[in-house]
Amino acid sequence: MNAQARPVEPTFRPMAAEDVDRILQIERAAYPYPWTRGNFMDCLDCGYSCWVVEVGGELVGYSILMAGAGEGHVLNCCVAPAWQGRGLGRLAMQRLIAGAPDYGVECLFLEVRPSNGTAIALYESLGFETVGLRRHYYPADQGREDALVMRLCL
Ligand SMILES: CC(C)(COP(=O)(O)OP(=O)(O)OC[C@H]1O[C@@H](n2cnc3c(N)ncnc32)[C@H](O)[C@@H]1OP(=O)(O)O)[C@@H](O)C(=O)NCCC(=O)NCCS
Repeated sequence: MNAQARPVEPTFRPMAAEDVDRILQIERAAYPYPWTRGNFMDCLDCGYSCWVVEVGGELVGYSILMAGAGEGHVLNCCVAPAWQGRGLGRLAMQRLIAGAPDYGVECLFLEVRPSNGTAIALYESLGFETVGLRRHYYPADQGREDALVMRLCL
């Protein structure tokens, strides 16, 4: 049965080191410039708020929040391509936002490529607003791409 035919009943749980093999498969399929295993292991080792979303026992997405000094930075939010467009990204972000006060977070920040209209639409619909631009922040096929900085104050 393909992903589109299955009902979506997601569950969330904290990410574990054992999840990283599957996460890397998704990461490499979803991003042109994927994170490395070391990036994910560093987030786990640092005790960041790292979550996975599963459907029917299959890990289909993940999100990572780094918190400190009253600020939270969304470092990654990703849904496996076959599962995108079914509300899972929104749920993953809503979980991060709802849990942020547990880490003392008052304002959330994130960076996003201006070319990533899907993610920008999601973040804006959750109340994030663009507050800045980091020039030449991301690698790109030709040179570098800027990052929009978005903020949500809780
Ligand atoms: C961005 C991402 C996490 C969104 O997750 P998703 O599960 O596909 O999104 P959802 O189904 O929850 O949709 C949430 C919102 O995103 C926007 N969206 C989703 N698919 C879209 C599309 N094809 N075109 C435009 N906007 C879209 C809509 O605003 C949507 O809200 P709506 O359904 O109320 O209209 C997912 O597309 C992804 O993993 N992309 C690759 C990794 C990435 O770019 N992450 C963000 C890095 S900053």
